[in-house]
Amino acid sequence: MKVFESVARNLSYTRAATELFLSQPAVSMQVRQLERQLGVPLFERVGRRIHLTEAGREVYQYSRSIAQQLDEMETLLADLKGLSSGRLRISVASTANYFVPSLLATFHQRYPGITVSLDVTNRETLLGQLRDNTVDIVVMGQPPASLDVDAQAFMENPLVIVAPPGHPLANRENIPLRRLQEETFLVREPGSGTRVAMERFFAERGIRLKTGMEVGSNEAIKQSVQAGLGLGLLSRATVEQELTLKRLTILRIAEFPIMRHWYVVHRHGKRLPAAAEAFKRFLLSAA
Ligand code: PGA
Repeated sequence: MKVFESVARNLSYTRAATELFLSQPAVSMQVRQLERQLGVPLFERVGRRIHLTEAGREVYQYSRSIAQQLDEMETLLADLKGLSSGRLRISVASTANYFVPSLLATFHQRYPGITVSLDVTNRETLLGQLRDNTVDIVVMGQPPASLDVDAQAFMENPLVIVAPPGHPLANRENIPLRRLQEETFLVREPGSGTRVAMERFFAERGIRLKTGMEVGSNEAIKQSVQAGLGLGLLSRATVEQELTLKRLTILRIAEFPIMRHWYVVHRHGKRLPAAAEAFKRFLLSAA
């Protein structure tokens, strides 16, 4: 119902997908499933636009009042559980900074009394914070093997290779991995989870990349790639704007994207404060 409500309100699968942090095929599949369950078409396509059918309009009214009731229920439960105040201490990998703030905005609407302290840093620092127990919840690209943690995946995290739009490989299909050995790559600083994933992926395939500059943030990698200093390997979440503005393009390379996931992580056995428990549940359900 939630997915349907978003598509109906936006009259667009793409906008609903962005709003819900889902892929577009996942959104259309959910809508098709609902149509099948209800036994009526809810949308019709006229040219390039979608419209609600008469049944769709009726279902939309219900979906809105159900959503409203759920919100009321959650606010009431939050009060009962003492979530009308409290503090949430979370740390996220610098790469997750591209989507966590908008999730926090929705969380804040639901629990306006909770004060959030958000730290954005690289993987290495996150591991230290988990070890020292200075944080309730961490969002990272790979749970640590060396610490006893509870980790649950909540969202896909594809890694892609980006180039400036004028790059000779920009319009080629199915570029073999080996071809990348002729290019120079900009790499993140040691301690970055993206860098660890990149090194592991190429090492497992016996590919040796030429690395140029070492660059300390996703933003700086994007700027350097645009300036023509080399190719960059980044989480797709970090380049949405540059792709829309056509400042960067994703190269179509065999075996890409590297599919990773985002995990919500805390120390095993840690008694999470109510606010952190609520945020964890929220992340898992938002996914
Ligand atoms: P990072 O984050 O590259 O910014 O450290 C991603 C991750 O944890 O994989």
